[in-house]
Amino acid sequence: MDTIQEKLLTQLKQRTARVAVLGLGYVGLPLAVVFAEAGFVVTGIDPDKRKVDTVRKGESHIQDVPSDQVARLVAAGKLKATTDFAALRDADAVSVCVPTPLRKTGDPDLSFILSATDEMAKYMHPSMVVVLESTTYPGTTREILLPKLGDEHGLTVGKDFFLAFSPERVDPGRQDWTTINTPKVIGGITGACSEVAAVWYSQALKTVVPVSSAEVAEMAKLLENTFRMINIGLVNEMALMCDRLGVDVWEVIDAAATKPFGYMKFTPGPGLGGHCIPIDPLYLSWKLRSLHYTARFIELASEINTNMPRYVVTKVQDALNNQQKSIKGSHVLVLGAAYKPDIDDLRESPALDVMGLLEQKGATVAYHDPYIPHLHHEGREMTSVTDLDKAIKDADCVVIVTNHSSYDYPAILKESKLVVDTRNAMGLLGKNNPKVTRL
Ligand SMILES: NC(=O)c1ccc[n+]([C@@H]2O[C@H](COP(=O)([O-])OP(=O)(O)OC[C@H]3O[C@@H](n4cnc5c(N)ncnc54)[C@H](O)[C@@H]3O)[C@@H](O)[C@H]2O)c1
Repeated sequence: MDTIQEKLLTQLKQRTARVAVLGLGYVGLPLAVVFAEAGFVVTGIDPDKRKVDTVRKGESHIQDVPSDQVARLVAAGKLKATTDFAALRDADAVSVCVPTPLRKTGDPDLSFILSATDEMAKYMHPSMVVVLESTTYPGTTREILLPKLGDEHGLTVGKDFFLAFSPERVDPGRQDWTTINTPKVIGGITGACSEVAAVWYSQALKTVVPVSSAEVAEMAKLLENTFRMINIGLVNEMALMCDRLGVDVWEVIDAAATKPFGYMKFTPGPGLGGHCIPIDPLYLSWKLRSLHYTARFIELASEINTNMPRYVVTKVQDALNNQQKSIKGSHVLVLGAAYKPDIDDLRESPALDVMGLLEQKGATVAYHDPYIPHLHHEGREMTSVTDLDKAIKDADCVVIVTNHSSYDYPAILKESKLVVDTRNAMGLLGKNNPKVTRL
């Protein structure tokens, strides 16, 4: 007779296994769509009724997922959405893509993983495979999910059900590397778990990279994001040092980047943003603190990166000062609120810190972002300026925080009184230009 594992593997290979994706956000919706395109019937479960209703209507709330693709999959019965976790009763394969933010104290907020696990535990049944995708500290899958999904139900992991971690690597806004073709690392609690999860994911994704444990997969994600965070911290400090030395950091970086090996280009900026790079490494340092170890590189890079918005404000202050003006009473226009170019994601964006600090110093701040028409900032609603040309002309200083490609930088330069360019968006136009202060 077939074992549970053999039966499940057959269902996965035949794509008759019923898939559930918990969390229909930046990670979950693209993944649900990829599984549905591969032929699985996929149910997205999310407590956010607005997102569920959007998907049900055949629309997408995620920039990287086209609405017509959602509409086609919904019409074909391949993609469903619900707020009702009872849908897990019928699920064979569950992928968990819930948020992992930080608390105000800077400690990991595991409440979403805990609540998703509690919901799964209610409907846990033999012959299920569960894959956690949310970025978290090493040990989460084994310490938090395993007892609630297995031990409490008398289910043996690797035999009755299968549990693995597979970090999401999606880079929102990116066209060349997407959910479907970015290699996917998967590590199971047991070898059988790795095998089942890898077989499931390889039905839909181009390359699956099995590793020996859930902890290796969890740590691999943290290495990737910590690598970025530290290199951004390094290049931000380079900008600070070049400023003291009177050397053009952008030219230095371009020169160094001509080395064909052993160097990877990173660029300075107004600070870190997004749901990953500013947050994930702090999950690792938090875990290590509990083991009496200080993750020094992470703490140092975090300190440098966190101070960048303050440094940008000193640049605005200096630029205005050169024109006999103070920040207090000046009109400052911030261009770009999203945390990186050409996307609509405001999470952890340094633009919010820059605006807050400018306001604290008495500036009247407005912003423009083609992707973010409204934002909630320091307890009030702000609306992106509608007449950009007029706002540029009226501002005492224009601060380029996010270098969206749709901006006409030569025109901005021509029409503005003063520009602080935190991204070198003006390129050579800004170099040695008395109107432009670069980072
Ligand atoms: N956004 C990225 O670029 C990115 C990249 C790689 C990894 N990640 C990681 O993936 C995870 C998800 O990130 P995201 O950007 O998709 O977040 P998101 O906020 O866009 O989406 C998460 C969704 O989960 C839902 N949710 C909350 N609690 C839930 C529960 N108990 N059950 C089901 N759904 C629930 C929320 O309503 C939300 O729609 C995080 O751990 C993040 O660090 C994100």
